[in-house]
Amino acid sequence: MPVDDPTVGAEVSELRELLAQHNHRYYVLDDPSVPDAEYDRLMRRLRALEEAHPALVTPDSPTQRVGGAALDVFNSVRHELPMLSLDNVFSEEEFRGFDRRVRERLGEGAEVQYCCEPKLDGVALSLLYENGLLVRGATRGDGASGEDITANARTIPNIPLRLRGEGWPQRLEVRGEVYMPRAGFEAFNSRALETDGKTFVNPRNAAAGSLRQLDPRITAQRPLEFCAYGVGIASGELPARQSLLLAQLREWGLRCSPEIRVAQGVAECLSYYEDLLERRASLPHDIDGIVFKVDSIALQERLGFVARAPRWAVAHKFPAEEEMTRLEDVEFQVGRTGAITPVARLAPVFVGGVTVSNATLHNMDEIERLGLMRGDTVIVRRAGDVIPQVARVVPERRPPDASPILLPQLCPACGSPVERVPGEAVARCTGNLLCPAQLREALLHFAARRAMDIDGLGEKVIDQLLAAGLVRDVSDLYHLEPGALAALERMGRKSAENLVLAIARSRESTLEKFLFALGMREVGEATARALARHFGALEPLLEADAIRLQQVPDVGPIVAGHVASFFADQRNRALVARLLEAGIHWPAVEMPAGGGPLDGASVVLTGSLESMTREAAGELLTRLGARVSGSVSAKTRLVVAGPGAGSKLAKAESLGIEVWDEERLLGFLREHGLVEV
Ligand code: IVH
Repeated sequence: MPVDDPTVGAEVSELRELLAQHNHRYYVLDDPSVPDAEYDRLMRRLRALEEAHPALVTPDSPTQRVGGAALDVFNSVRHELPMLSLDNVFSEEEFRGFDRRVRERLGEGAEVQYCCEPKLDGVALSLLYENGLLVRGATRGDGASGEDITANARTIPNIPLRLRGEGWPQRLEVRGEVYMPRAGFEAFNSRALETDGKTFVNPRNAAAGSLRQLDPRITAQRPLEFCAYGVGIASGELPARQSLLLAQLREWGLRCSPEIRVAQGVAECLSYYEDLLERRASLPHDIDGIVFKVDSIALQERLGFVARAPRWAVAHKFPAEEEMTRLEDVEFQVGRTGAITPVARLAPVFVGGVTVSNATLHNMDEIERLGLMRGDTVIVRRAGDVIPQVARVVPERRPPDASPILLPQLCPACGSPVERVPGEAVARCTGNLLCPAQLREALLHFAARRAMDIDGLGEKVIDQLLAAGLVRDVSDLYHLEPGALAALERMGRKSAENLVLAIARSRESTLEKFLFALGMREVGEATARALARHFGALEPLLEADAIRLQQVPDVGPIVAGHVASFFADQRNRALVARLLEAGIHWPAVEMPAGGGPLDGASVVLTGSLESMTREAAGELLTRLGARVSGSVSAKTRLVVAGPGAGSKLAKAESLGIEVWDEERLLGFLREHGLVEV
């Protein structure tokens, strides 16, 4: 194809126009018009045409964002108009003071209109356009001169290389902020962690570091964005209000914050501030406050400047989300389920609007991930209402006497061994019923309907019993007197008597309910039932080792290990003995007679049933000799699945196990005289 083939030139122009339009929709209007793949296809076509016809390449072509070799140094750029900074205010009162001074200076009694803008937490950038073409990008530097980072600015995808539309001044300097959106920052850091690259402490540093790369190809790989907030030099007329100016910049293809609003007077400004403060955490990028600017440019000119900041604008800062403090100690707390959680004790620090002296460290993996030691200086982060976190260690500030943080071997609440299952992040106290920290949960479980079924013993009463010191372990329940109970708040004589009666009634139980009530790890109802059936009585179970326990249908090595170690602990045996002494008893377990139609078959019920509960269906199947189990394995003979059945059904199907629906089940039960015809 000859170089001067006019159809090629036309296609190149058309492609550039299309790409610029898609780019604008995507980056400026947040409203993508085509899938990424289509964009990539157009870009590849343009690249191919330009490669074949290099004479057609122009500097504003979208293929030319990344170009040129790495620099040795950045050239210095003198700002024709200095890049000013802003005065800060930190409270409503200080903001009211700012507004008062503005009105006094203007001699205005009336409320002033302000343009309200998020204060983006990034790096200031000046972009110079001549005849609509981007000719220079410069950092703020000291305000009087900065560095020429044109090649880097060109790589930022939402900076137009050519202004859109018309009417722009022949020379126009757009000013704004370069920032890294949070999602891009997280993705960049996790990639850096995987590849042992350098991570950044926050999106602001990431933006600053990325913009100051001497090699623009590196900047091009960083997820940066630009947002315009004003103009510097302009050779022609511009709108007479800040808000209209920003709207105009948007039309010329520059991204401006979608949060910009005009407010009338202080009250509206403050409610804008509150609204954005509340939504701060859900914005796609960090903001560190609100900038309020007198909207009328004529009034701005009358107000002028002091030193290095305008009198017509102010930054109302948000409380800092990150602060530095010292990790004084790490304590280990035992949760209601026995999970042991390390908690950071910090030198008190004001962050995110509150004083923070504790922060959860979640688990030992987190401590390892942070590389944390006692005595370290740490960055504490509290964003929005989110609970405070230790975000990072400042390694340069580690004192020589910093000490490692080790998981305690024994539970701080009960002295039982602490167990950390390999591959699991959470460490646990193995004390269960014996651990005072777990007592509340243990009592709730013990009293539950499917366990000892103690009517009236709910969370509130349990909390009262614990607070009054009436119960130190589950066996104490059986020694409660109505008199002592009636002394509890909101517990009348009658309810106290009823509760004692309900507790007394629970003495008459079944072995499987009792085993379930003990709350051994991973022993749910089905396993408790299997244990009861297999051993028939408590005594042989107490003596069984893990090997014997594995002979129980559906009991694997893990569950067997939990059961064996529970009964190996003398304190658990003593507790069981106390419960039996308190009168808990059960009828002899009916061992399956054999010969039932489902004799010994492992059956799993999943999903919901219409005509009866799953428990009731399980009970009926058990009468026919089935063993009802909670999980599907190769040993499962039959799965009964109702609506809502999920992974168990899928697993059964993949193992080729017979699956029945409710109708089939009912038919079967009917056949055996267990439901009415
Ligand atoms: S106006 C004369 N508007 O904050 C006014 N600045 O401390 C100059 N910033 O260096 C700035 N968001 O980088 C303005 N909506 C906004 C801003 C903003 C962030 C930064 C800017 C400046 C610093 C001022």
